[in-house]
Amino acid sequence: MSKVVLAFSAGMGTLAALHILRRRFGRNNVVTYTANLGQKSSTEGLCERATQGGAAYAHIADLRERFIRDFVWPALRAGAVCESGYALAHALARPLIVSEVIRVAREEGADFIAHGCAGKSNDQVRFEISAAALAPDLGVLAPLREQGILHRDEVSGYCQRHGIPTNVDECRFSITENVYGSSVQWPRAPDPFQDVPEDAYRLTAAEGDTPDESVEVLVSFQQGLPSAIDGEPLRGVSLVEKIGKIAGAHGVGRLTTFEDRLIGIKMLEVYEQPAATVLHMARSAIERLVLAPDLAQFKALVATRYAELAYQGFWFSELRESLDAFVIKSAQFVTGDVRVRLYRGTCRVVGVRSRYSLYSQGLAEPNVTGDEFSGQDGVQGYMKTLTQSLKLRQNDPHKRAR
Ligand code: ARG
Repeated sequence: MSKVVLAFSAGMGTLAALHILRRRFGRNNVVTYTANLGQKSSTEGLCERATQGGAAYAHIADLRERFIRDFVWPALRAGAVCESGYALAHALARPLIVSEVIRVAREEGADFIAHGCAGKSNDQVRFEISAAALAPDLGVLAPLREQGILHRDEVSGYCQRHGIPTNVDECRFSITENVYGSSVQWPRAPDPFQDVPEDAYRLTAAEGDTPDESVEVLVSFQQGLPSAIDGEPLRGVSLVEKIGKIAGAHGVGRLTTFEDRLIGIKMLEVYEQPAATVLHMARSAIERLVLAPDLAQFKALVATRYAELAYQGFWFSELRESLDAFVIKSAQFVTGDVRVRLYRGTCRVVGVRSRYSLYSQGLAEPNVTGDEFSGQDGVQGYMKTLTQSLKLRQNDPHKRAR
């Protein structure tokens, strides 16, 4: 009999998926894998829920540091943010989870891996693309989709019929969290003209509850990656947590947007990404200061493409890896300090410095004569070259004839 490893969160969908798989594979052949990525919902008791639900064995691992180091940091260095402003907290977690599920499948000698993603989710796409890239020999199962259990009510109906205990709290909305951000899942599509209920937010204070005074934070970067907060050297999870906490207290990092899901449906998304908001803004401020103009322009294209690949599930692709090589090289001078001011939900860069700055105060001085840019031959000659072809076209008789 073959074996299957199921990515398991203990949410209603994965509980139903576990039940379906146990019926198909038998009790001894279903194993679950849970990643601790910093979700606030306790991972305690989660393994018991898996074994009670029919898993022969429940694996769990703390992936938080790897998540930040190998996925969040490269995306940050690339400046990879979706057009909507979504900093990809969940999209970046999927390839890591899949790579771990595959590792466990190898250990367990399993022929299949499985997920309990909803039928309209992006995560099913990311899961299956990552699996294809890393382990094309393994079968990928999507038990809920395969059984046509697509709607939340159908999942909950399935659980009720089979006596699977679920969290009633999930009825209003559910929140998916990790150390880098959170997103809200609605049981019913919300009316985008209505306010998002305040209790959907966990990481950021409401504007009215933020301190009356603004706060200034010094964020330092080395080669495109954050290295210290207010002069205190920090790494990985502790850096993200520290800046996230400060920003969240000032209400920074809320985002409500329409997202074009990979299956072609527009969805209303509510995100909280306090750490990501500050870090992306600060990093790009240094980049503005140090990158040569042509590099800055090209880097922006790379950032867009990088974000698309991460969003679409192509993290493990030659293109993303090649872009990463470019990003690492382009970030060699993205080192410096940024002063960021946080106030009532806003985040503003108020100061930036770098020892690699291309900004020369002397040259930028608007009213200085006698430097190399103010002479006759300098700018005047340049103007002539710059306007030459336009003048030729204007003098072109064919053009005038039209
Ligand atoms: N729409 C977001 C994305 O596609 C959020 C995904 C949330 N993931 C989850 N498992 N609930 O990245």
